[in-house]
Amino acid sequence: MLLAAQADGKHITTIEALGQVEEQGWKRTQGLHPLQQAFVEVGAIQCGYCTPAMILAAKALLDQTLTPTEEQVRDALSGVLCRCTGYVKPVQAVLRAAEMMRGEERLEIRDWRLSLPSQPTEPREELPPPESPISNLQPFDTAQGKSLTISPTMVVAPPITETRVVGKPEKKVDAVKLAQGKPVFTDDIELRGMLYAKVLHSPVAHARIKHIDVSKARALPGVHAVLTYKDIPRVVYSTAGQSDPIPGPLDTFSLDNKVRFVGDRVAFVAAESEEIAERALELIEVEYEELPAILDARDAMKPGAPIIHDEPEFVNFANVADPARNIAAHINIELGNVEEAFKQADYVFEDEYVVPKVQQAHIEPHVVITYWDEDDRLVIRTSTQVPFHVRRMLAPVLGLPPKRIRVIKPRIGGGFGGKQEVLIEDIAAHLTIATGRPVRFEYTREEEFTAARSR
Ligand code: FES
Repeated sequence: MLLAAQADGKHITTIEALGQVEEQGWKRTQGLHPLQQAFVEVGAIQCGYCTPAMILAAKALLDQTLTPTEEQVRDALSGVLCRCTGYVKPVQAVLRAAEMMRGEERLEIRDWRLSLPSQPTEPREELPPPESPISNLQPFDTAQGKSLTISPTMVVAPPITETRVVGKPEKKVDAVKLAQGKPVFTDDIELRGMLYAKVLHSPVAHARIKHIDVSKARALPGVHAVLTYKDIPRVVYSTAGQSDPIPGPLDTFSLDNKVRFVGDRVAFVAAESEEIAERALELIEVEYEELPAILDARDAMKPGAPIIHDEPEFVNFANVADPARNIAAHINIELGNVEEAFKQADYVFEDEYVVPKVQQAHIEPHVVITYWDEDDRLVIRTSTQVPFHVRRMLAPVLGLPPKRIRVIKPRIGGGFGGKQEVLIEDIAAHLTIATGRPVRFEYTREEEFTAARSR
Protein backbone atom coordinates (compact mmCIF):
# COMPACT_ATOMS: atom_id res chain seq x y z
CA MET A 1 0.00 0.00 0.00
CA LEU A 2 1.17 3.50 -0.64
CA LEU A 3 -0.30 6.98 -0.64
CA ALA A 4 -1.66 8.34 -3.91
CA ALA A 5 0.77 11.24 -3.58
CA GLN A 6 3.66 8.77 -3.61
CA ALA A 7 2.44 7.45 -6.96
CA ASP A 8 2.17 10.92 -8.50
CA GLY A 9 4.21 11.17 -11.68
CA LYS A 10 5.11 7.48 -11.60
CA HIS A 11 4.34 4.78 -14.13
CA ILE A 12 1.85 2.35 -12.62
CA THR A 13 1.57 -1.28 -13.68
CA THR A 14 -1.15 -3.57 -12.39
CA ILE A 15 -1.40 -7.33 -12.81
CA GLU A 16 -3.91 -6.83 -15.63
CA ALA A 17 -1.17 -5.24 -17.76
CA LEU A 18 1.00 -8.37 -17.79
CA GLY A 19 0.95 -10.95 -20.54
CA GLN A 20 0.94 -10.58 -24.28
CA VAL A 21 -2.33 -9.57 -25.90
CA GLU A 22 -3.11 -11.10 -29.26
CA GLU A 23 -5.82 -9.69 -31.46
CA GLN A 24 -7.13 -11.64 -34.43
CA GLY A 25 -10.04 -9.72 -35.90
CA TRP A 26 -12.73 -9.59 -33.22
CA LYS A 27 -10.94 -12.12 -31.05
CA ARG A 28 -8.70 -10.84 -28.29
CA THR A 29 -6.79 -13.25 -26.11
CA GLN A 30 -4.34 -12.61 -23.35
CA GLY A 31 -1.35 -14.88 -22.96
CA LEU A 32 0.71 -15.14 -19.85
CA HIS A 33 3.84 -13.29 -18.89
CA PRO A 34 6.71 -15.71 -18.10
CA LEU A 35 6.27 -14.88 -14.42
CA GLN A 36 2.58 -15.83 -14.53
CA GLN A 37 3.46 -18.94 -16.53
CA ALA A 38 6.13 -19.94 -14.05
CA PHE A 39 3.85 -19.41 -11.03
CA VAL A 40 1.30 -21.70 -12.67
CA GLU A 41 3.78 -24.37 -13.77
CA VAL A 42 5.83 -24.49 -10.58
CA GLY A 43 2.74 -24.75 -8.37
CA ALA A 44 3.57 -21.53 -6.55
CA ILE A 45 -0.09 -20.64 -6.08
CA GLN A 46 -2.11 -21.90 -3.17
CA CYS A 47 -5.05 -19.67 -2.29
CA GLY A 48 -3.78 -17.14 -4.82
CA TYR A 49 -4.69 -14.08 -2.77
CA CYS A 50 -1.09 -12.82 -2.67
CA THR A 51 -0.14 -14.04 -6.13
CA PRO A 52 -0.68 -10.81 -8.14
CA ALA A 53 1.41 -8.89 -5.60
CA MET A 54 4.14 -11.56 -5.70
CA ILE A 55 4.24 -11.44 -9.49
CA LEU A 56 4.38 -7.64 -9.59
CA ALA A 57 7.12 -7.52 -6.96
CA ALA A 58 9.05 -10.11 -8.95
CA LYS A 59 8.52 -8.16 -12.17
CA ALA A 60 10.04 -5.07 -10.57
CA LEU A 61 13.11 -7.19 -9.78
CA LEU A 62 13.35 -8.81 -13.22
CA ASP A 63 13.02 -5.38 -14.83
CA GLN A 64 16.33 -4.64 -13.11
CA THR A 65 18.10 -7.93 -13.64
CA LEU A 66 17.42 -11.21 -15.42
CA THR A 67 20.06 -13.00 -13.38
CA PRO A 68 18.84 -12.52 -9.81
CA THR A 69 20.24 -14.58 -6.99
CA GLU A 70 17.91 -16.49 -4.71
CA GLU A 71 18.67 -13.95 -2.03
CA GLN A 72 17.65 -11.08 -4.29
CA VAL A 73 14.41 -12.86 -5.13
CA ARG A 74 13.63 -13.46 -1.47
CA ASP A 75 14.36 -9.83 -0.73
CA ALA A 76 12.12 -8.67 -3.60
CA LEU A 77 9.22 -10.80 -2.33
CA SER A 78 9.75 -9.93 1.31
CA GLY A 79 7.19 -7.12 1.27
CA VAL A 80 4.42 -9.50 0.23
CA LEU A 81 2.84 -11.52 3.01
CA CYS A 82 1.90 -15.04 2.00
CA ARG A 83 0.13 -17.16 4.57
CA CYS A 84 -0.02 -20.32 2.48
CA THR A 85 3.13 -21.16 0.58
CA GLY A 86 6.18 -20.71 2.77
CA TYR A 87 7.77 -18.81 -0.16
CA VAL A 88 9.83 -21.74 -1.49
CA LYS A 89 7.70 -22.27 -4.59
CA PRO A 90 7.28 -18.56 -5.40
CA VAL A 91 11.06 -18.14 -5.22
CA GLN A 92 11.45 -21.12 -7.55
CA ALA A 93 8.88 -19.61 -9.89
CA VAL A 94 10.69 -16.27 -10.10
CA LEU A 95 14.02 -17.98 -10.82
CA ARG A 96 12.29 -20.13 -13.39
CA ALA A 97 10.74 -17.06 -15.04
CA ALA A 98 14.13 -15.35 -15.15
CA GLU A 99 15.51 -18.39 -16.90
CA MET A 100 12.68 -18.36 -19.43
CA MET A 101 13.21 -14.64 -20.05
CA ARG A 102 16.89 -15.33 -20.71
CA GLY A 103 15.78 -17.79 -23.34
CA GLU A 104 16.92 -20.85 -21.43
CA GLU A 105 14.74 -23.92 -21.35
CA ARG A 106 16.96 -26.45 -19.69
CA LEU A 107 15.23 -28.23 -16.90
CA GLU A 108 11.98 -29.84 -16.23
CA ILE A 109 10.41 -28.35 -13.17
CA ARG A 110 10.36 -31.63 -11.30
CA ASP A 111 14.13 -31.74 -11.31
CA TRP A 112 14.48 -28.41 -9.62
CA ARG A 113 15.83 -27.94 -6.15
CA LEU A 114 16.67 -24.68 -4.52
CA SER A 115 20.16 -24.36 -3.19
CA LEU A 116 18.98 -23.78 0.32
CA PRO A 117 21.77 -22.71 2.67
CA SER A 118 21.47 -25.85 4.81
CA GLN A 119 21.96 -28.15 1.83
CA PRO A 120 25.41 -29.01 0.54
CA THR A 121 25.75 -27.47 -2.89
CA GLU A 122 27.72 -29.10 -5.62
CA PRO A 123 29.84 -27.27 -8.17
CA ARG A 124 27.75 -26.12 -11.08
CA GLU A 125 27.99 -28.50 -13.95
CA GLU A 126 27.39 -28.00 -17.61
CA LEU A 127 23.82 -29.01 -18.22
CA PRO A 128 22.70 -30.86 -21.33
CA PRO A 129 20.30 -29.12 -23.68
CA PRO A 130 16.64 -29.58 -22.79
CA GLU A 131 15.09 -32.83 -23.84
CA SER A 132 11.44 -32.15 -23.17
CA PRO A 133 10.65 -28.53 -22.56
CA ILE A 134 7.64 -27.85 -20.42
CA SER A 135 4.51 -27.82 -22.51
CA ASN A 136 3.03 -24.45 -23.47
CA LEU A 137 6.11 -22.50 -22.47
CA GLN A 138 7.27 -20.11 -25.13
CA PRO A 139 10.72 -18.54 -24.92
CA PHE A 140 10.36 -14.95 -23.85
CA ASP A 141 11.09 -12.43 -26.57
CA THR A 142 13.05 -9.75 -24.75
CA ALA A 143 12.33 -6.16 -25.69
CA GLN A 144 15.82 -5.82 -27.17
CA GLY A 145 15.46 -9.02 -29.15
CA LYS A 146 18.84 -10.14 -27.84
CA SER A 147 19.48 -13.59 -26.51
CA LEU A 148 21.60 -13.68 -23.40
CA THR A 149 23.95 -16.53 -22.60
CA ILE A 150 24.10 -16.91 -18.87
CA SER A 151 24.63 -20.00 -16.79
CA PRO A 152 21.62 -21.22 -14.85
CA THR A 153 21.43 -20.03 -11.27
CA MET A 154 19.89 -23.29 -10.10
CA VAL A 155 21.71 -26.21 -8.54
CA VAL A 156 20.46 -29.63 -9.54
CA ALA A 157 20.00 -32.18 -6.80
CA PRO A 158 21.24 -35.73 -7.31
CA PRO A 159 18.75 -37.93 -9.13
CA ILE A 160 16.02 -39.40 -6.94
CA THR A 161 13.82 -42.37 -7.55
CA GLU A 162 11.05 -41.38 -9.89
CA THR A 163 7.58 -41.41 -8.39
CA ARG A 164 4.33 -41.09 -10.23
CA VAL A 165 2.84 -38.21 -8.23
CA VAL A 166 4.96 -37.26 -5.23
CA GLY A 167 7.59 -34.63 -5.88
CA LYS A 168 5.95 -33.27 -9.01
CA PRO A 169 4.28 -29.92 -9.17
CA GLU A 170 0.67 -30.05 -10.20
CA LYS A 171 -1.03 -27.21 -12.00
CA LYS A 172 -4.05 -25.98 -10.12
CA VAL A 173 -7.19 -26.05 -12.21
CA ASP A 174 -7.76 -22.35 -11.54
CA ALA A 175 -4.13 -21.24 -11.36
CA VAL A 176 -4.20 -19.26 -14.62
CA LYS A 177 -6.97 -16.92 -13.54
CA LEU A 178 -5.32 -16.46 -10.14
CA ALA A 179 -2.00 -15.56 -11.81
CA GLN A 180 -3.87 -13.07 -13.96
CA GLY A 181 -5.55 -11.40 -10.97
CA LYS A 182 -9.03 -12.15 -12.32
CA PRO A 183 -11.92 -11.19 -10.01
CA VAL A 184 -12.23 -14.54 -8.26
CA PHE A 185 -12.67 -13.48 -4.63
CA THR A 186 -15.77 -12.46 -2.67
CA ASP A 187 -14.93 -8.78 -2.63
CA ASP A 188 -14.15 -8.59 -6.34
CA ILE A 189 -17.62 -7.35 -7.27
CA GLU A 190 -19.27 -4.02 -6.64
CA LEU A 191 -23.02 -3.82 -6.74
CA ARG A 192 -25.10 -0.76 -7.51
CA GLY A 193 -26.42 0.86 -4.36
CA MET A 194 -24.20 -1.24 -2.10
CA LEU A 195 -24.08 -0.28 1.57
CA TYR A 196 -21.17 -0.85 3.94
CA ALA A 197 -21.65 -2.51 7.29
CA LYS A 198 -19.83 -2.00 10.56
CA VAL A 199 -20.27 -3.67 13.93
CA LEU A 200 -20.19 -2.08 17.36
CA HIS A 201 -18.19 -4.46 19.55
CA SER A 202 -18.34 -4.81 23.31
CA PRO A 203 -15.52 -3.11 25.22
CA VAL A 204 -16.22 -5.28 28.31
CA ALA A 205 -15.86 -9.01 28.89
CA HIS A 206 -19.19 -9.79 30.50
CA ALA A 207 -22.18 -7.48 30.89
CA ARG A 208 -25.86 -6.93 30.35
CA ILE A 209 -26.91 -4.09 28.11
CA LYS A 210 -28.98 -1.93 30.46
CA HIS A 211 -29.74 0.75 27.95
CA ILE A 212 -28.92 1.36 24.30
CA ASP A 213 -29.81 4.49 22.32
CA VAL A 214 -29.20 4.50 18.56
CA SER A 215 -31.30 7.55 17.67
CA LYS A 216 -28.31 9.79 16.91
CA ALA A 217 -26.69 7.11 14.75
CA ARG A 218 -29.91 6.56 12.81
CA ALA A 219 -30.25 10.31 12.21
CA LEU A 220 -26.77 10.60 10.67
CA PRO A 221 -27.07 11.35 6.91
CA GLY A 222 -25.98 8.34 4.84
CA VAL A 223 -26.97 5.81 7.51
CA HIS A 224 -29.61 3.35 6.27
CA ALA A 225 -29.99 0.98 9.21
CA VAL A 226 -28.89 0.53 12.81
CA LEU A 227 -29.85 -2.78 14.38
CA THR A 228 -29.70 -3.89 18.00
CA TYR A 229 -31.09 -6.94 19.77
CA LYS A 230 -34.43 -5.12 19.93
CA ASP A 231 -34.77 -5.05 16.15
CA ILE A 232 -34.29 -8.67 15.08
CA PRO A 233 -35.91 -11.95 16.13
CA ARG A 234 -34.27 -13.76 19.01
CA VAL A 235 -33.21 -17.09 17.48
CA VAL A 236 -30.63 -19.28 19.18
CA TYR A 237 -28.12 -21.03 16.93
CA SER A 238 -24.58 -22.38 16.73
CA THR A 239 -21.89 -20.64 14.67
CA ALA A 240 -19.90 -23.86 14.30
CA GLY A 241 -20.03 -25.13 10.74
CA GLN A 242 -21.02 -28.69 11.51
CA SER A 243 -23.18 -31.23 9.74
CA ASP A 244 -26.78 -31.83 10.62
CA PRO A 245 -27.63 -32.87 13.31
CA ILE A 246 -25.36 -30.36 15.04
CA PRO A 247 -23.85 -31.83 18.20
CA GLY A 248 -24.50 -28.46 19.77
CA PRO A 249 -24.75 -26.55 21.87
CA LEU A 250 -26.88 -23.73 20.46
CA ASP A 251 -25.65 -20.73 22.42
CA THR A 252 -25.49 -17.75 20.06
CA PHE A 253 -27.83 -14.98 18.94
CA SER A 254 -27.15 -12.57 16.06
CA LEU A 255 -27.51 -9.84 18.68
CA ASP A 256 -28.26 -10.25 22.37
CA ASN A 257 -28.93 -8.10 25.42
CA LYS A 258 -25.82 -9.63 26.97
CA VAL A 259 -22.19 -9.51 25.89
CA ARG A 260 -19.84 -12.37 26.70
CA PHE A 261 -16.38 -11.25 25.59
CA VAL A 262 -14.47 -8.14 24.60
CA GLY A 263 -15.34 -7.93 20.92
CA ASP A 264 -18.83 -9.45 21.19
CA ARG A 265 -21.50 -7.83 19.02
CA VAL A 266 -23.64 -4.95 20.29
CA ALA A 267 -25.09 -3.32 17.15
CA PHE A 268 -24.92 -3.43 13.33
CA VAL A 269 -24.83 -0.36 11.08
CA ALA A 270 -25.27 -0.07 7.30
CA ALA A 271 -24.31 3.19 5.62
CA GLU A 272 -23.29 4.59 2.26
CA SER A 273 -19.60 4.44 3.13
CA GLU A 274 -17.40 2.77 5.71
CA GLU A 275 -16.50 6.17 7.11
CA ILE A 276 -20.15 7.08 7.72
CA ALA A 277 -20.78 3.67 9.28
CA GLU A 278 -17.82 4.16 11.61
CA ARG A 279 -19.04 7.62 12.58
CA ALA A 280 -22.46 6.11 13.32
CA LEU A 281 -20.89 3.57 15.68
CA GLU A 282 -19.47 6.45 17.71
CA LEU A 283 -22.97 7.92 18.08
CA ILE A 284 -24.46 4.78 19.67
CA GLU A 285 -24.88 5.19 23.42
CA VAL A 286 -24.70 2.00 25.50
CA GLU A 287 -24.99 1.54 29.24
CA TYR A 288 -23.57 -1.75 30.48
CA GLU A 289 -24.28 -3.52 33.76
CA GLU A 290 -20.92 -5.17 34.17
CA LEU A 291 -20.81 -8.76 35.44
CA PRO A 292 -17.81 -10.62 36.87
CA ALA A 293 -15.53 -11.71 34.07
CA ILE A 294 -13.88 -15.11 33.71
CA LEU A 295 -10.38 -15.00 32.31
CA ASP A 296 -9.22 -18.55 33.00
CA ALA A 297 -10.68 -21.88 31.92
CA ARG A 298 -10.06 -23.51 35.33
CA ASP A 299 -11.73 -20.67 37.20
CA ALA A 300 -14.69 -21.02 34.86
CA MET A 301 -15.34 -24.58 36.11
CA LYS A 302 -15.18 -23.75 39.84
CA PRO A 303 -18.43 -23.82 41.82
CA GLY A 304 -19.97 -20.38 42.05
CA ALA A 305 -18.20 -19.09 38.92
CA PRO A 306 -20.20 -16.58 36.89
CA ILE A 307 -22.26 -18.36 34.26
CA ILE A 308 -21.62 -17.08 30.75
CA HIS A 309 -24.49 -18.87 29.04
CA ASP A 310 -27.44 -18.40 31.39
CA GLU A 311 -29.93 -17.77 28.60
CA PRO A 312 -33.08 -19.94 28.81
CA GLU A 313 -32.96 -20.62 25.06
CA PHE A 314 -29.65 -22.56 25.36
CA VAL A 315 -30.04 -25.90 23.57
CA ASN A 316 -27.86 -28.77 24.70
CA PHE A 317 -28.57 -31.29 21.94
CA ALA A 318 -26.23 -34.11 22.76
CA ASN A 319 -25.67 -33.25 26.43
CA VAL A 320 -22.06 -32.50 25.63
CA ALA A 321 -22.20 -29.16 27.43
CA ASP A 322 -22.64 -28.15 31.04
CA PRO A 323 -23.57 -24.45 30.98
CA ALA A 324 -23.75 -24.30 34.78
CA ARG A 325 -19.99 -25.00 34.84
CA ASN A 326 -19.21 -23.08 31.65
CA ILE A 327 -18.27 -26.27 29.83
CA ALA A 328 -18.93 -26.22 26.09
CA ALA A 329 -18.15 -29.86 25.34
CA HIS A 330 -16.41 -33.05 26.39
CA ILE A 331 -14.54 -34.87 23.68
CA ASN A 332 -13.42 -38.46 24.15
CA ILE A 333 -11.58 -40.23 21.39
CA GLU A 334 -10.54 -43.86 21.54
CA LEU A 335 -9.04 -45.87 18.74
CA GLY A 336 -8.75 -49.64 19.09
CA ASN A 337 -8.41 -51.34 22.46
CA VAL A 338 -6.92 -48.63 24.66
CA GLU A 339 -6.66 -50.75 27.83
CA GLU A 340 -4.86 -53.49 25.99
CA ALA A 341 -2.47 -51.00 24.38
CA PHE A 342 -1.60 -49.54 27.79
CA LYS A 343 -0.90 -53.04 29.13
CA GLN A 344 1.48 -53.76 26.27
CA ALA A 345 3.24 -50.41 26.33
CA ASP A 346 6.77 -50.20 27.72
CA TYR A 347 6.08 -46.73 29.06
CA VAL A 348 2.87 -44.87 29.80
CA PHE A 349 3.03 -41.12 30.05
CA GLU A 350 0.18 -39.24 31.65
CA ASP A 351 0.10 -35.49 31.67
CA GLU A 352 -2.06 -32.49 31.06
CA TYR A 353 -1.32 -30.43 27.99
CA VAL A 354 -2.22 -26.82 27.44
CA VAL A 355 -2.05 -25.20 24.02
CA PRO A 356 -2.41 -21.53 23.24
CA LYS A 357 -5.07 -20.11 21.00
CA VAL A 358 -3.87 -19.61 17.44
CA GLN A 359 -5.36 -17.18 14.96
CA GLN A 360 -5.43 -18.58 11.44
CA ALA A 361 -4.41 -15.21 9.91
CA HIS A 362 -5.64 -15.91 6.38
CA ILE A 363 -4.58 -12.96 4.26
CA GLU A 364 -8.13 -12.44 3.00
CA PRO A 365 -10.20 -11.46 6.03
CA HIS A 366 -13.74 -12.70 6.58
CA VAL A 367 -15.82 -10.84 4.00
CA VAL A 368 -19.42 -11.16 2.81
CA ILE A 369 -21.75 -9.40 0.37
CA THR A 370 -25.50 -9.99 0.53
CA TYR A 371 -28.31 -8.91 -1.82
CA TRP A 372 -31.79 -9.84 -3.00
CA ASP A 373 -31.82 -11.44 -6.45
CA GLU A 374 -34.53 -11.17 -9.12
CA ASP A 375 -36.44 -14.10 -7.61
CA ASP A 376 -36.50 -12.58 -4.12
CA ARG A 377 -33.86 -14.94 -2.89
CA LEU A 378 -31.29 -13.66 -0.49
CA VAL A 379 -27.87 -14.15 -2.07
CA ILE A 380 -24.99 -14.56 0.37
CA ARG A 381 -21.64 -14.25 -1.42
CA THR A 382 -19.17 -15.14 1.26
CA SER A 383 -15.62 -16.19 1.93
CA THR A 384 -16.51 -19.42 3.71
CA GLN A 385 -15.34 -23.00 3.94
CA VAL A 386 -18.86 -24.24 4.72
CA PRO A 387 -21.38 -22.83 2.19
CA PHE A 388 -23.98 -25.54 2.78
CA HIS A 389 -23.93 -25.05 6.53
CA VAL A 390 -24.31 -21.29 6.04
CA ARG A 391 -27.60 -21.82 4.21
CA ARG A 392 -29.02 -24.43 6.57
CA MET A 393 -28.01 -22.67 9.77
CA LEU A 394 -28.97 -19.15 8.78
CA ALA A 395 -32.43 -20.01 7.43
CA PRO A 396 -34.08 -20.00 10.89
CA VAL A 397 -31.94 -17.07 12.08
CA LEU A 398 -33.10 -14.96 9.14
CA GLY A 399 -36.67 -16.30 9.16
CA LEU A 400 -36.37 -17.50 5.54
CA PRO A 401 -36.90 -21.00 4.12
CA PRO A 402 -33.60 -22.45 2.87
CA LYS A 403 -34.85 -22.30 -0.72
CA ARG A 404 -34.93 -18.51 -0.46
CA ILE A 405 -31.23 -18.39 0.44
CA ARG A 406 -28.53 -18.85 -2.16
CA VAL A 407 -24.96 -19.05 -0.91
CA ILE A 408 -22.13 -18.34 -3.34
CA LYS A 409 -18.68 -19.35 -2.24
CA PRO A 410 -16.14 -17.77 -4.57
CA ARG A 411 -12.49 -18.68 -4.26
CA ILE A 412 -11.30 -17.94 -0.73
CA GLY A 413 -8.05 -16.19 0.13
CA GLY A 414 -7.12 -18.70 2.81
CA GLY A 415 -9.25 -20.28 5.51
CA PHE A 416 -7.24 -22.81 7.56
CA GLY A 417 -10.38 -23.68 9.49
CA GLY A 418 -11.01 -20.06 10.45
CA LYS A 419 -13.79 -19.91 7.89
CA GLN A 420 -15.50 -23.06 9.10
CA GLU A 421 -17.79 -20.96 11.27
CA VAL A 422 -20.87 -19.09 10.19
CA LEU A 423 -19.39 -15.93 11.58
CA ILE A 424 -20.37 -12.73 9.76
CA GLU A 425 -22.89 -13.77 7.10
CA ASP A 426 -25.86 -12.99 9.34
CA ILE A 427 -24.66 -9.40 9.89
CA ALA A 428 -24.86 -8.43 6.22
CA ALA A 429 -27.99 -10.54 5.73
CA HIS A 430 -29.94 -8.82 8.53
CA LEU A 431 -28.94 -5.45 7.09
CA THR A 432 -29.99 -6.40 3.54
CA ILE A 433 -33.32 -7.61 4.90
CA ALA A 434 -33.71 -4.32 6.81
CA THR A 435 -32.73 -2.03 3.91
CA GLY A 436 -33.46 -3.98 0.73
CA ARG A 437 -29.99 -2.96 -0.44
CA PRO A 438 -26.83 -4.97 -1.15
CA VAL A 439 -24.58 -4.90 1.92
CA ARG A 440 -20.87 -5.59 2.20
CA PHE A 441 -19.17 -6.47 5.47
CA GLU A 442 -15.51 -7.26 6.02
CA TYR A 443 -13.56 -7.79 9.22
CA THR A 444 -10.59 -5.52 9.77
CA ARG A 445 -7.38 -7.28 10.79
CA GLU A 446 -8.02 -6.09 14.35
CA GLU A 447 -11.49 -7.66 14.30
CA GLU A 448 -9.95 -10.90 13.08
CA PHE A 449 -8.09 -11.03 16.40
CA THR A 450 -10.85 -9.76 18.68
CA ALA A 451 -14.11 -10.93 17.14
CA ALA A 452 -13.28 -13.99 15.04
CA ARG A 453 -12.50 -17.49 16.29
CA SER A 454 -9.16 -19.15 16.78
CA ARG A 455 -7.80 -22.64 16.94
FE1 FES B 1 -0.11 -16.58 -0.65
FE2 FES B 1 -2.42 -17.77 -0.05
S1 FES B 1 -1.05 -18.24 -1.69
S2 FES B 1 -1.61 -15.98 0.81
